[in-house]
Amino acid sequence: MTYLRPNIASMKGYVPGFQPDDVASWIKLNTNENPYPPSTKVVEAILAELGSDGASLRTYPSASSQRLREVAGELYGFDPSWIIMANGSDEVLNNLIRACAGEGQDVGYVHPSYSYYSTLAEIQGAAVCTYGLTDSYKVEAFPEYYNGKIFFLTTPNSPLGFAFPLDYIEELARNCAGLLVIDEAYADFADQNALQLVKKYDNVVVTRTFSKSYALAGMRLGLAIARPEIIAALDKIRDHYNLDRLAQAACVAALQDQTYFRESCRKIIETREWFTMELNAIGYSVVPSQGNFVFASPPDKNGKRVYDGLFERNILVRLLSDPLLAHGLRISIGTRKEMETTLAAINKIG
Ligand SMILES: Cc1ncc(COP(=O)(O)O)c(C=O)c1O
Repeated sequence: MTYLRPNIASMKGYVPGFQPDDVASWIKLNTNENPYPPSTKVVEAILAELGSDGASLRTYPSASSQRLREVAGELYGFDPSWIIMANGSDEVLNNLIRACAGEGQDVGYVHPSYSYYSTLAEIQGAAVCTYGLTDSYKVEAFPEYYNGKIFFLTTPNSPLGFAFPLDYIEELARNCAGLLVIDEAYADFADQNALQLVKKYDNVVVTRTFSKSYALAGMRLGLAIARPEIIAALDKIRDHYNLDRLAQAACVAALQDQTYFRESCRKIIETREWFTMELNAIGYSVVPSQGNFVFASPPDKNGKRVYDGLFERNILVRLLSDPLLAHGLRISIGTRKEMETTLAAINKIG
């Protein structure tokens, strides 16, 4: 006998990337975190919010994170009513499914991309359908009209790193009966983003995270931009105090220090381009990346061999369990020095 819903009892659950306890003894390139710290203004804002005795923690934070919606709205060119803040973008991805897809209804996404969509849909009892990629990075066999409740499009794609062209995303938006959720977790490292499509199509939602480009994975911060009626529905579903006080203070400060943010992204992009060139020079094939990581395959297409060699040298990268991706590794872009060490190790491993 089980007290659980059958779909929960039978589901596998998502396995996040390994987070070692002794993080300082690793070059950690497995979960696309930012190698640079957040802006010093972020640290100052957290300390100011905390105060000397932590008394501010006695009271609940702003339930709506209104100040953040205003600051983000101004930055991205949207009225605050088009923005919702989230406890990591994972929270808002979950709530989008809860808002739109009931038992047995279709939720779709591209494989390979972020497989957590599948876990979230399974929890909801929704039916998951995945679509592969063609050689030219289009969605394989995407129907002329997709009747599902939500389609998730990760762009730039993770783990591969390419971005879908805007006119192609627009075509998909027109061909979706339900929401097209454009997961732009890595868009700050890309040449373009799809924000303009939110204004143009009423079924388009863009999600962003502060875990990568803003170096705030440990604070759990994300957001979604969509029509006010969608935002209002998401507001009904979320935990009423979904962002704690310190996270709200940190996020305002992070958004306001665009100079630091841009410089941090610039360094990562520059290192990404250098690392790609160096890997190509030693015979690795690398998908040209628009994210803060690259997907790279050694000449013998044996990702596990290189993963093991790097692991022995305390360099942690991502080997994906899917056989479709076993020929390569997803390697996050660290500091230039970390990537030089990684490259030297790869050279030794062969
Ligand atoms: C494509 C994609 N979407 C969403 C997330 C989750 O981000 P967050 O840390 O904001 O929950 C990740 C994290 O790796 C990701 O790769």
